[in-house]
Amino acid sequence: MIAKTKEDFNGLKEIGKICGTIRDELVQSTKPGMTTKELDEMAGEMFEKAGAQSAPKGEYDFPGYTCISINEEVAHGIPGKRTIQEGDLVNIDVSGSKNGYFADTGISFVVGNGDTTLQKICDVAKEAFNAGLEKAKPGAKKSGLGKAVNSIAKQHGLTVIKNLTGHGVGRSIHEAPHHILNFYSRWDDEILKDGMVIAFEPFISTLEEEVFQSDDGWTFLTDESFVAQYEHTIILTKEGPIITTL
Ligand code: CO
Ligand code: CO
Repeated sequence: MIAKTKEDFNGLKEIGKICGTIRDELVQSTKPGMTTKELDEMAGEMFEKAGAQSAPKGEYDFPGYTCISINEEVAHGIPGKRTIQEGDLVNIDVSGSKNGYFADTGISFVVGNGDTTLQKICDVAKEAFNAGLEKAKPGAKKSGLGKAVNSIAKQHGLTVIKNLTGHGVGRSIHEAPHHILNFYSRWDDEILKDGMVIAFEPFISTLEEEVFQSDDGWTFLTDESFVAQYEHTIILTKEGPIITTL
């Protein structure tokens, strides 16, 4: 969407804060021995208390309030009986709506002490996000974000996932502009606009550049790589980006 009115900005900020708070609460509550379902139920309670709805459940009939993905699972992991272990790479992605406004945010992190490579891809995903954010200005090319993301990945000897992308958000969970890539494409000549709302989410990988879908119909997997994501919802303005999900 293009945010125009004060109501738009306030509505986007309200759901952004709700999703960001749920994300942080779930990250802090993640302990070895817990199941992903236990974490997800906390999110369900928090959505309800805030008078908000889970976007994956509400929009796509996803079997969970949030997406929780572990190790070989990259995104859209279904919360369930899987037990979280020390050293696991966990991704928690929280998206929701309130009063017709949407937000989407996610983070990958390592539970307790883990492999240094896992911490590295999490750090690089955040660095790539910040590099892309510098390019997220009205009037600039959308492709500048992916260019920045890929450049950071390369600097660290890592790769990006090419078949997962960021997206427009605001009045629904996925809307125009579609496909905010993690790499530069010269075919992408779309120009970012003042008030445009996007979910920017770099995916940084240790090796592979594509994910594939699991038989469960939801989860995106890798074969032999680890992937970290870092995502926020951003309103692009002439005065600078407003991150609603901080
Ligand atoms: Co997300
Ligand atoms: Co997203």
